[in-house]
Formats: sequence, C-alpha cells, structure tokens
Amino acid sequence: MSNFSFAAYNSLSDAECQERIRVARQKLGREATLLCHHYQRNDIYQHADLTGDSLKLARLAAATDARRIVFCGVHFMAEVADILSRPEQQVILPDLAAGCSMADMANLAKVERSWRELASVCPVEETFTPITYINSAADLKAFCGRHGGIVCTSSNAAAITRWAFAKRPKVLFFPDQHLGRWTGYNMGIPLAEMQVWDPDLPLGGLSEAAIRQAKILLWKGHCAVHQMFQKRHIDAFRARCPEGRVIVHPECNFEVCSAADEVGSTEYIVKTIKEAKTPGHWQVGTELNLVERLAKELAPEGKIVEFMSDIVCMCSTMQRIDPQHLAWTLENLVAGEVVNQIVVPEREAGEAKQSLERMLQIS
Ligand code: 13P
Ligand code: SF4
Repeated sequence: MSNFSFAAYNSLSDAECQERIRVARQKLGREATLLCHHYQRNDIYQHADLTGDSLKLARLAAATDARRIVFCGVHFMAEVADILSRPEQQVILPDLAAGCSMADMANLAKVERSWRELASVCPVEETFTPITYINSAADLKAFCGRHGGIVCTSSNAAAITRWAFAKRPKVLFFPDQHLGRWTGYNMGIPLAEMQVWDPDLPLGGLSEAAIRQAKILLWKGHCAVHQMFQKRHIDAFRARCPEGRVIVHPECNFEVCSAADEVGSTEYIVKTIKEAKTPGHWQVGTELNLVERLAKELAPEGKIVEFMSDIVCMCSTMQRIDPQHLAWTLENLVAGEVVNQIVVPEREAGEAKQSLERMLQIS
C-alpha cells in the first residue's frame, strides 16, 4: 500500500501539481533523477534532469548514481533502465498505463511461433539473426539474447544490422517494419529482398521460396503516430517553401523517409535543427510535443519549425505522464514509499541484458 493513493491527486490543478513537484524534487535532491524522453509534454519535460532519445536514455540510466530513477517515458524504456541499472537502484514509471502501441504489436508467443515456423523452412539458428527494436517488451529482448540476436534503436539500426549480417545471412526484424525497411534499403538491400512477415498468417503469409530469397523479414508492425505523415505533406511544403528542409523519424513510411532531406532519431532531429547554422524553415515528421517545443525555443533565432501533418498526432501513451502522476510519485518517494516500480524478472533481465549490452558495445 502506498502512503498516498493516486485518487487524491486526480483532482489537483496542474498549477498546484507543479508547485508540489518542485518542493518534492528539492527534498529528494540527488536521491532521485528524472529522465525524460523528447515526446514528453512540456509540463513534465521542464522538470527533467536529463533528456534524450531511447539510446541516450538507456546509456544515462546505466550511468546514473541516483538511487531512484523516475522515468518519464513509456514502459519499454523504463524496463531497459531497470535492466541496465544496478540492483540497488529503483526505476519508477509515474503511470503504468504509459505503454507503446507499436511494442504491443509483437509478443513472445508470436515471435516464438514465427521462429518455429522459420525452423521448418531452414536451419533458423544459423540462418536468421533476430533484431528487436528497443520499442519492445523485455521478454523479446531476452529472446534475442537467447538466440544470438540483438537490440537496436532508431539511432544505431544501421550499425546493428551490419553486425547481424556479419553473423548470419538473414535478419528477422521486429516489431517496426518501417525502421527495418529503411535501414535495409540504406545498406543496399533491394526492396524485393525485404518481405513483410505477418505473424497472424501461416509462414508469415509467405511462400517457402519467398522466405529463402529474402534477406530481411520485416515484422508487420508500425507506429500509428508516424503513419499520419504522408508524402503529400512534404510535396505541399516543398511547393510552399522550396528552400525549406524536411526531417523525419525512421518510423515514418518508406515514401516519406525517401522524400525527406534527413532521417533520424528524436535526439538527431533536435540536434540537427538546433545546430543548423542558418535560420531556415523546417518541416518535421515526428511527435507533436517535440516539434512544438522546438518551434517555440528556436523562434527567437529566426528558425521556423513546423509540424508535418495537418491533423494533431500525439503519442497518447507518452501523454499519460502528467503533473498529477509525477507529483504523486515524487511525494510518495519523499515519504519513503516507492510506487509504480518497474521490475523485470531476473532471468528475463539477464538474457535481455545480453542483447542490450551487445547493442551498447556496437553503437
Ligand atoms: P527515439 O529513440 O528516436 O527517441 O524513438 C523512440 C520512439 O518511440 C519514437 O516513436
Ligand atoms: Fe510507441 Fe509510436 Fe509512441 Fe513512439 S510514438 S512510443 S513508437 S506509439
């Protein structure tokens, strides 16, 4: 039982929560560190000790000395922080409902079934290296650990996939088909040699011949937020602003990535626009909180940063971390109570750590 139940915090105003968050943080001092993904809303992001994309946050979680890591992001990120941090450290996700809908598109039962099906076509352990995008549950990272595979993020997918091909001739890439396709294409693999694997169909919906011919099998998964961005948005922007630059996240579809000037992780997007030498006009294909924050911050420098889609597309699960949940979490910590701790079971954590450490060594 926690000292303070969440119910009492639900009715607090945002302003009241902000004040309580500030006071609790002062009391906690260095005991707690607040890691924040770039998609977090401003009323949370402003409290961050450290910010980053998935790779940077994984490294920060592994390096911090704080006893409590309050993770303002989504569930798989907090799991990674728990796996990479020391046993005496605790990782807290302020709202346990902050998941990732793309991560949910693959699960262990489906991946294991797919692996067995592939084994009926070829000696799977010698033929396929499994790569899981970091946007996946810990048991899938453990699967990769057990089967000689690895984890990748949006900022290291090319290096990781090269490593995978040095080990075995083919790759099973899950759960984001778009990151897998974009990565393979940039390594020179023809689109025809990358086949979509539908885990809900026998043999992924492919013939044995198609599986034998493919270099990469792309799990049929995607991020709903990034599918809102379309090539027509880029065409309209280029017609309006021929001098403008387009930058997108690799979770966007292939057409959008191909039409963009730059493709990269959230950290890469933030860094590229901030460090651009000239004022310029940018169109950005990633989550709205990140884009709106950049637009506001860089407007005084004369940089115009605009969101790619004409409809609002936020990551609704990232949004779940709100001032009410953060105030509740921190005030419980001040009272010596840990709520919403993320604990990956030991065996799973050990195997997942193997695939994460392989990734960290390479990137
Ligand atoms: P980054 O690793 O680029 O921050 O991406 C995480 C994510 O979930 C993007 O949708
Ligand atoms: Fe998952 Fe998409 Fe949200 Fe990223 S933006 S956390 S991939 S649902």
